[in-house]
Amino acid sequence: MNFKRPRGTADILPDDQPYWGKVYNTARKVAHQFGYRRIDTPTFEDTNLFERGVGNETDIVQKEMYSFDDHGGDMITLRPEGTASVCRAYIENGMHNLPQPVRLFYAAAMFRYERPQAGRVRQFHQFGVEAIGDPSPEVDAEVIELGWKYIADLGIKDVTLRINSLGDAEGRADYINDLDKYFLGVVDQLPKVDQDRLKRAPLRVLDSKARETQALADAAPKSVDYITGEAKEHWEVLLVLLDNLKQAYPDFSYTVDHRLVRGLDYYNRTVFEFEPADAGSQGTLIAGGRYDPLMGILGGQETPGIGFAGGLERLIMELKKQELPVKASKGPDVVVVTLGDAGSAGSTLAAGLRAKDISTVLAPKRSMKAQMRYANSQNALNVVILGDREVENGVASVKSLGEGGAQSEVTLDAAAIAEHVRSTGNQ
Ligand code: HAM
Repeated sequence: MNFKRPRGTADILPDDQPYWGKVYNTARKVAHQFGYRRIDTPTFEDTNLFERGVGNETDIVQKEMYSFDDHGGDMITLRPEGTASVCRAYIENGMHNLPQPVRLFYAAAMFRYERPQAGRVRQFHQFGVEAIGDPSPEVDAEVIELGWKYIADLGIKDVTLRINSLGDAEGRADYINDLDKYFLGVVDQLPKVDQDRLKRAPLRVLDSKARETQALADAAPKSVDYITGEAKEHWEVLLVLLDNLKQAYPDFSYTVDHRLVRGLDYYNRTVFEFEPADAGSQGTLIAGGRYDPLMGILGGQETPGIGFAGGLERLIMELKKQELPVKASKGPDVVVVTLGDAGSAGSTLAAGLRAKDISTVLAPKRSMKAQMRYANSQNALNVVILGDREVENGVASVKSLGEGGAQSEVTLDAAAIAEHVRSTGNQ
């Protein structure tokens, strides 16, 4: 029987880990620079949380959730995204009692039953941030800036930022009405999928992937023309704040995209996406927006929030495509090579070195040549060679595998060898 990993999942092998190290470490660093603190929530939640939070009509809830009854009969779902979970945790842990806004970040696996293709998998990983408890546009600008800085610090170039405002519930009804009317007027020109979408959720027709729909969507009513009052003021202030970001980030730019609506139901006002310049339909690197209605929907007190999530698989694909350097993982300080009957002395020495914080690996008991080849394959910095003669004389031969390849005889003693390895700067 040949076992295979489930479709749409990946084994992240050691050679690929430097890329993962880079996206995680940069995420942590940038999140801390902006004062965001880490939160971890469970991998699975009550199914209702996502049905209510993400929205019953969304593709995620309709088709993509991994849901099951557990042995106690509870309906459980592997989280398809992080925002609903973070808001649940905010309510459950009384975080409204903390000074607001509460700035949180997470980096975790998410699960969606989708048709796997490049950049779209069933188990994927997100770096997400959520700023909860402050309605002001300054926080929107901060979250967008954070996304921009994350991409810039990764070294990824040629990314476009698109933003839009969906307004608030009041203006939305009129907008959706007019949008519906507009698309009904051209319904014969829409492909079947979009005709169905129109019946369920007219907004979703706007972000259709079908070219004929896109042309029609360009001429459709725009949500920003329907926003009024505070939502309008919020949008106008945000645009000024974003223009001001150019002072700190000379490359910063954005475009207003009237077709940007996002695929989750909890958004209001600001929505945004970061895409690489030559993105296909699976290209969005980071996406997010404001979700002021969500806390109320989940049964908490009304509390505004905004955040984003970036897909780590997609960011890594972009790092590779742009051939950006990552730090190779370091090899061990020492590989111990043993000959003749020196095997157990080698093993004892290896333990002694590790106890002194020198990373040490034993070469497999084979020929000298094979052991040296093994040491090179591990990117070792030094080899310590022990044969019967060395054990008898109480010395070890320490050879640097770096430039110059100096070789020295050192007392066969873990402390002495550790000291030697440190002093030659190879550790
Ligand atoms: P989302 O647009 O569903 O938003 O996902 C955000 C990002 O996760 C996408 O832009 C993409 O990079 C990545 N992603 C999504 N699905 C997949 C997949 N199947 N395979 C690989 N990568 C994927 C959210 O999840 C919201 N919770 C974002 C948010 C946070 N809004 C406010 N706060």
